[in-house]
Amino acid sequence: MAFATRHFVRAASSDAATAAAKKLLIKHVTIIGGGLMGAGIAQVAAASGHTVVLVDQSDEILKKSTKGIEESLKRVTKKKFADKPEAGAEFIKNTLKNLTTSTDAASVVHSTDLVIEAIVENLEVKNELFKTLDKFAPEHTIFASNTSSLQITKMANATTRQDRFGGLHFFNPVPMMKLVEVIKTPMTSQKTFESLVDFSKAVGKSPVSCKDTPGFIVNRLLVPYMMEAVRLFERGDASKEDIDVAMKLGAGYPMGPFELLDYVGLDTSKYIIDGWHSLEPNNPLFAPSPLLNKLVEEKKLGKKTGEGFYKYK
Ligand code: NAI
Repeated sequence: MAFATRHFVRAASSDAATAAAKKLLIKHVTIIGGGLMGAGIAQVAAASGHTVVLVDQSDEILKKSTKGIEESLKRVTKKKFADKPEAGAEFIKNTLKNLTTSTDAASVVHSTDLVIEAIVENLEVKNELFKTLDKFAPEHTIFASNTSSLQITKMANATTRQDRFGGLHFFNPVPMMKLVEVIKTPMTSQKTFESLVDFSKAVGKSPVSCKDTPGFIVNRLLVPYMMEAVRLFERGDASKEDIDVAMKLGAGYPMGPFELLDYVGLDTSKYIIDGWHSLEPNNPLFAPSPLLNKLVEEKKLGKKTGEGFYKYK
């Protein structure tokens, strides 16, 4: 029995070792899109010891991204190394040493293990990018998209590496938010999936996994909830202020649904719900809202334009 147990333990651990050996240890990362999300992902990847190339369309944009990363690193360091300023300065120096920028994605992916795409939320533009990079990236390189609302499977199909393609959905602001949704399409290999899970942990996040379904986990629950709040308000059942107070004090949410809609951007929310509505027109959870559409038409997009459901001027 003791022998059998020992034998079993040895066999199990050697199985685990083989599985681990099969996984790709991600060291070099290319991030395409230096906006809100791409810059955040570049920051956490570089801070955790990966070598990172951040790509965008112009040097001016990349300068802005780098400046934003430096400022964010200072804020993180102030908290993390409150009583060790020298260690903090060293941390910033080492993180920035791991980070370079480029305006030419095709020329920098030749030695990368992972490409994370965080560009504009447009399937054709994303597909075009992945199709091009597929020709230049090495065989082993995994591609991942940070999309919030588009189908990962459709992007994977623009490449010849469907098994090495998945979703890595980070949350805003990336340095603060602990969650990453790792999305597995029917074609994503187990090795790719596990490599993406390991990478998410390596950058200090807590990964959860989900199939390639609209909104994955968080947005699939959150967006219909916010839309239901709008409908409650549209029917005149409660004021938006009372709905926000109710969800903060009654459900313990840090923001009410209207505050959250204004923070996310009403255009983004409309774009997501319209996309899902076209996929499933009979699903009442995905029904468009006349009030949301009206505000977007009036360019009242939320905090970023100074007015959405609330005024911020
Ligand atoms: P953003 O507009 O802040 O940044 C996008 C960046 O991509 C811009 O700097 C733009 O110049 C660049 N870009 C556009 N086309 C490019 C191309 N072909 N090659 C290189 N760079 C290109 O957008 P954001 O908010 O960072 O979103 C990026 C992605 O992340 C989208 O797919 C979005 O759905 C997703 N996402 C956004 C979240 C958010 O809260 N903003 C949360 C989670 C995911």
